[in-house]
Amino acid sequence: MTPSAPTPGPLHGMSSLGLGCWPLAGMTREGVTRDAAVRTVAAALDAGISHLDTAYCYGEGGESEMAIAAAIAGRPRDRVFLAGKCGIHWEAGRTQKVDGRPARLVQEVDESLQRLGTDHVDLLYLHAPDPTVPIEESAAALRELLTAGKTRAVGCSNVSLAQLQAFAAACPTSACQMPYNMLQRELEDRFLPWCQTQQIGVVVYWPLMKGLLAGTMARDRQFPSSDSRHKYPMFQGEEFQRNLDFVDQLRSIAQRLGSSVPSLVLAWTMERPGIASVLFGATSPQQVAANVTAMQCSLDHAAREAIEDAFRERGPVAGRRAVQS
Ligand SMILES: NC(=O)c1ccc[n+]([C@@H]2O[C@H](COP(=O)([O-])OP(=O)(O)OC[C@H]3O[C@@H](n4cnc5c(N)ncnc54)[C@H](OP(=O)(O)O)[C@@H]3O)[C@@H](O)[C@H]2O)c1
Repeated sequence: MTPSAPTPGPLHGMSSLGLGCWPLAGMTREGVTRDAAVRTVAAALDAGISHLDTAYCYGEGGESEMAIAAAIAGRPRDRVFLAGKCGIHWEAGRTQKVDGRPARLVQEVDESLQRLGTDHVDLLYLHAPDPTVPIEESAAALRELLTAGKTRAVGCSNVSLAQLQAFAAACPTSACQMPYNMLQRELEDRFLPWCQTQQIGVVVYWPLMKGLLAGTMARDRQFPSSDSRHKYPMFQGEEFQRNLDFVDQLRSIAQRLGSSVPSLVLAWTMERPGIASVLFGATSPQQVAANVTAMQCSLDHAAREAIEDAFRERGPVAGRRAVQS
């Protein structure tokens, strides 16, 4: 597999490893400058990663989309697979608002295209279902955007299986974006198998669980309140220490393969059945360089078994479930 291995059908051109451009918005990570954001995107593209994942709400003023626009300027548009999302925005006081009303979705997409400096995205997701709007109505708006050529394919994100089924009945659905990683694997039960039967590509986020599975976190690491990780149970107390024990086991598996922890973790995620692309976030070109080595990491049977053993030993993790029933 290469970073630019094309995916057939409407997701053509989407690399199996993608750069998640949320951390580049600078809202939940300290010290991410605009210059660093642009260089990080450019480093990913230079390394052969075509798939850039962003959203209307990545930054209060679309900072992620604007960094992408600066990084792709002057590059052939067809070498970049741009995935955007609509349906969440920020209100006063940094309050996130889910709004799936059709007119709002259309307005957000027009603004996003302007910020991105392009007339279409390659994949457009409904970012999350709005509990006050039937999901079929939001899906119909995305279907119209598809017909209008503002996107080449449509998907949805953060849905239950029933919501995905309702969405897909109302709009041709090529992809679904959900959280999945070595410690949070609920998608495997019903979600991934159903998507496989429908040829819906599953794009996964949090493969490195916000850096926890990147193998570089110190056991005494403290997260300031400006860092979103300070509120996740996986980064606190005994849970955090047990997760780092798991990472220590991954480290010895990676060493035996002559690889690194992030490389092993991303390679394992990419080879899981039904997964079309794996999004990693990064805040520097160095992290991009470390993570793209996943393309060269091949797991053997012993490594897969050892990962399953470590997972069983770790037991259930605290925190949000990846799939709500
Ligand atoms: N659809 C949705 O609702 C949704 C939700 C969440 C995410 N996403 C998408 O998925 C993407 C991935 O999620 P994510 O960015 O939150 O999480 P992630 O990929 O699990 O973790 C990214 C973080 O891991 C750290 N990291 C990455 N590579 C590293 C390396 N080689 N060594 C050490 N640390 C490393 C960096 O943390 P530092 O900041 O500490 O450097 C980086 O910000 C997002 O960017 C976004 O595009 C979508």
